Amino acid sequence: MKRSWGIVLLCAALPWTATGADAPEWSATGTDNPVSAAAGADDLERAESLYALYCAQCHGSDGTGDGLNAPYMDTRPRDHTNRSEMGGRSDDELFRTIAEGGQAMNLSVMMPPWEGSLDEDEIAELVRYLRVLCCQE
Ligand code: HEC
Repeated sequence: MKRSWGIVLLCAALPWTATGADAPEWSATGTDNPVSAAAGADDLERAESLYALYCAQCHGSDGTGDGLNAPYMDTRPRDHTNRSEMGGRSDDELFRTIAEGGQAMNLSVMMPPWEGSLDEDEIAELVRYLRVLCCQE
């Protein structure tokens, strides 16, 4: 009787040592905040380069609406750093404007739709980036 208990305990102890090896990883994912904060910073960096690639020619590299094309356009590209104009838009509105273009939102057709070139994650990151441009000191 005593002997078989010993075996049960030994077996029970084995999985413990096995998971013991994973212990450091567990505590690393346990501190979730720094990990997701770092991922967020990466996303923002990606959004910044997407913006430079696709948006800056109209909206300007710093988002103030004075890109290379701006002087030739009937409707001036939005100044994305203008808090009073941009702050009044919801994230959904910004997302839709970027995805479906100005026309879908009764804005100028000069704002092109991007859903063919950018995926949803990229557009969501751009919305976040616009929030940084307009509404963070
Ligand atoms: C060909 C020029 C052009 C490019 C490229 C362009 N935009 Fe625009 N965008 C415009 C113009 C013009 C407007 C203003 C539309 C209006 O006021 O009727 C505008 C407006 C917007 C708005 C609406 C702001 C508001 O007031 O609701 C958002 C958001 C926006 N652009 C984001 C982007 C993003 C993000 C990119 C890059 C992926 C981009 N735009 C690329 C021309 C452009």
